Amino acid sequence: MSSETPVVGILMGSDNDYDIMVEAAKILKHFEVPFEMIVSSAHRTPDRTNEYVRGARDKGIKVLIAGAGAAAHLAGVVAAETNLPVIAVPIDATSMRGLDALLAMVQMPAGIPVATMAIGSAGARNAGIFAARILATEDSALEARLLDFKQDMAAGVIEKSARVQEKMLADGLI
Ligand code: RP5
Repeated sequence: MSSETPVVGILMGSDNDYDIMVEAAKILKHFEVPFEMIVSSAHRTPDRTNEYVRGARDKGIKVLIAGAGAAAHLAGVVAAETNLPVIAVPIDATSMRGLDALLAMVQMPAGIPVATMAIGSAGARNAGIFAARILATEDSALEARLLDFKQDMAAGVIEKSARVQEKMLADGLI
C-alpha cells in the first residue's frame, strides 16, 4: 500500500491472482499513482466486497480495478455498487484459460459498464495504465509521465528494429 491516500483501489478475487494483478500495482507505482490492493471475492465475501466499494469514493478512490478468474463476477458486482469507473482484468485460473473470466466480464448488461482488459498480465498492466489515463484528465503532471512512457516505448521499438537488422546481417540475409 502506498503512503499517500490511495486514488486507485485494486481488488482481486483470491491471493492466487496476485502474480497477475501485481502488474497493475507496478505500473501505478511507476506513474506515482497512490493505490491500495485487497483480496475480496464476489462470491466468497460478498459483504466485504460491497462494504469496500460503498466506502471507496468517500475515502478518495477515483478508479477501481477488479481482477478475477473463473465465473468472474467481481468487476460487475463492483460496478453495480458504484458510479466510479471500474476496469476489469480476466485471469487465467481454470482449464478454460481465462476465456470464462473474459466473457463474464466483457458481457455486462446495458447500464452497468466495466472496461474489460486482455486476459492476464498484459491486461493487468493495461488496467494500471488505463486508470492512470483516467486520472491524467485532471492531472497534467501525470499526463506528462504518460507521454514519457509512450516515448520510451517508441524508442524501445526502434532499438528492437536495429537488433533485427543486426541479426539479419549476422545471418547473411542483408
Ligand atoms: C476467483 O476464482 C478468483 O479470482 C480466482 O481467480 C479463482 C479461483 O480462486 P481460488 O480457488 O484460487 O482462491 O474468484
